[in-house]
Amino acid sequence: MTTAEPDILIVNTDARSRRQLRQTLEQNGFSKLSEAGTGTAAIETLNLMAIDVLITDIPLQDLDGWRLTRLVRSGVLGTASDIPIIIVSTTYSERIAEITAREFGVNRFISFEELHRLPAVLREIQTGGTALPRPTLLLIEDHPDTTRLVKRVLEKRFDIETAGDGQSGLEAWNAQRHDMVLLDIMLPVKSGEQVLTEILETRPNQAVVVMTAHSSAARASSLLLNGAVDFIAKPFRAEQLRRVCDIAVRREDFIISNEQFSQRLSELQKNETERIQMQNQLRQAQKMEAIGQLTGGIAHDFNNILGSIMGYTSLAQKKLSPDSDRKLAGYLAEVYRAGERARDLISQMLAFSRGSTITPRAMVLTPLVKECVMMMRSTLPTTIALLTDIADNIPAVMMDTVQLHQLVMNLCINARDAIESETGSIEIRLHTITGIQTNCSSCHHPVQGDFVELVVQDNGQGINAAVLQKIFDPFFTTKDIGKGTGMGLSMVHGIVHGHGGHILVDSKPGKGTIFRLLFPLIGNTGDTSAENDSTQEPVRGSGHVMVVDDDPTLTGYLKELLQERGYLVTALTDSREALELFERNPQAIDLVLTDQTMPRLAGDRLAQAMLAQRPDLPVILCTGYSNRIDAVKARQLNIRGYFTKPVDPDRLISLMSSLLRTG
Ligand SMILES: Nc1ncnc2c1ncn2[C@@H]1O[C@H](COP(=O)(O)OP(=O)(O)OP(=O)(O)O)[C@@H](O)[C@H]1O
Ligand SMILES: [Mg+2]
Repeated sequence: MTTAEPDILIVNTDARSRRQLRQTLEQNGFSKLSEAGTGTAAIETLNLMAIDVLITDIPLQDLDGWRLTRLVRSGVLGTASDIPIIIVSTTYSERIAEITAREFGVNRFISFEELHRLPAVLREIQTGGTALPRPTLLLIEDHPDTTRLVKRVLEKRFDIETAGDGQSGLEAWNAQRHDMVLLDIMLPVKSGEQVLTEILETRPNQAVVVMTAHSSAARASSLLLNGAVDFIAKPFRAEQLRRVCDIAVRREDFIISNEQFSQRLSELQKNETERIQMQNQLRQAQKMEAIGQLTGGIAHDFNNILGSIMGYTSLAQKKLSPDSDRKLAGYLAEVYRAGERARDLISQMLAFSRGSTITPRAMVLTPLVKECVMMMRSTLPTTIALLTDIADNIPAVMMDTVQLHQLVMNLCINARDAIESETGSIEIRLHTITGIQTNCSSCHHPVQGDFVELVVQDNGQGINAAVLQKIFDPFFTTKDIGKGTGMGLSMVHGIVHGHGGHILVDSKPGKGTIFRLLFPLIGNTGDTSAENDSTQEPVRGSGHVMVVDDDPTLTGYLKELLQERGYLVTALTDSREALELFERNPQAIDLVLTDQTMPRLAGDRLAQAMLAQRPDLPVILCTGYSNRIDAVKARQLNIRGYFTKPVDPDRLISLMSSLLRTG
């Protein structure tokens, strides 16, 4: 090949790959480029033009790179049959492709990932020969007749070097490390067996074919066991020798191809497993989201209904006189108690759906967790040992005190229920953990970074894999009817995620269970002061209160309740109407009690509109389930009171009277 600029034909079905190839070549000073997108187009160009170098991919839609090569090499096309052919391919098993390339008379094989090597390869071909180097063979044989015969038979296929005895054979091999060695066994100076051993000690994969004077099963197997790749018995036929050597020289190719292939295969399998895992995680995450929304919605509606049931029940209770039917009083008390149970359940459902409104504050969990442990000590049976390891020196996290109690309670009760043996123990640990990198067991989202970790571990019966998948589902329980509602862990899920945290669960049947709650750090700004919960005695009030709630039963109840306590009440079910009424005479109203979720004009907006006209107006916002507003936001809007439904009448009245006093 001349050093003049070569005419290069690029054959590739993918336009983007062709462009990439063209760019690589052009950037390296090759500018005489033609392209073909199919086998047919390639043949046409090769027929019409004198191409100097062919660069092709393997699959070509109507043809393949191998057959295109055969066509060129056969000399039927206009282009010279001995032009350099380079395959640039995205194929996976490079070695297999390389071997095939050699068999088909392709000069070089480059994988697409190594495209940058192409210019160098082209230049090498330009300056050097175009032919692929032939494999080298070292013949160690002391009989000149055999040497001549072997040379004649194998000359075309191999570059042959010869040695007449074992010692010089070894020296020659050490100098060049031939692709294969053809070794006579009966040798002067050093026996064939010795040479074989020494070669394989240096290079265990060296292809060595042994020539023996006679073949017996014992001899053949001992040679192969010593590491020879094959043997041939003298006298041999030319065809026999050719075949044995052909196979032997490609042995390493086969081994490496196999290894590459199985490696690719296991990579693919691994990818597939990972894909399935991710899909599962996604499905689980979506399921939790969907259930969350559903539960939140149900809880919200149910809360309103329950508010009326409990409200009217307590009104009815107040109507009872000392001489009323004793049974009736009992019935009403039962209704109220049932209502309370329902309210607890709903608050759990809301906690799960994260629709409940909480007031998390920055705090160090240590004293709180210690408090919980004390409470659990008195709750758990004495047969269960309660162990602790609670770090003092930990950073603050966002937490709602009541909810932390609920977390510890639920996990400990579950642990208690899982313990059947006499030697049961529950351990509560609290500490900081850094560099976590995993997926959350309940929401299935990735978790990474530093956290405060609250661990509850038991040595109970453990959880099997099938159950483990469902433990966070609302109402999933393995306990007998009446023993568990299956809301415990759902609530834990909701609370933890409501605080930006995650959960890790590890459990094996018979080996116990570990629940790890992870709370994100917020720095050391926490304070652990107790909440100032105001549960004062109910007070009789006075003033003009506007009640706004789209649920007429609830407005009816609230009106009656407040009137009963001495207030003048204007109750409305339409928030816009309420605003109009207010605007007519803003000073006429002393306090507004409004629902949040209402059609057309929501509670926070109503409050904003009213406060714009009368910034001193005390407004109390009641919400059941709302994503838009919580206590903090309400305060920012200058809404002075904030309640979650169902409203506790005594607390409401006490808040109202204090607002009216100060307002
Ligand atoms: N520590 C634990 N060891 C073994 N199984 C557990 C453990 N914690 C939870 N489980 C399993 O998870 C299920 C769901 O727990 P979850 O707390 O949500 O509901 P529950 O305990 O059945 O009922 P509830 O808490 O509402 O009274 C349990 O029924 C139980 O099968
Ligand atoms: Mg439970």
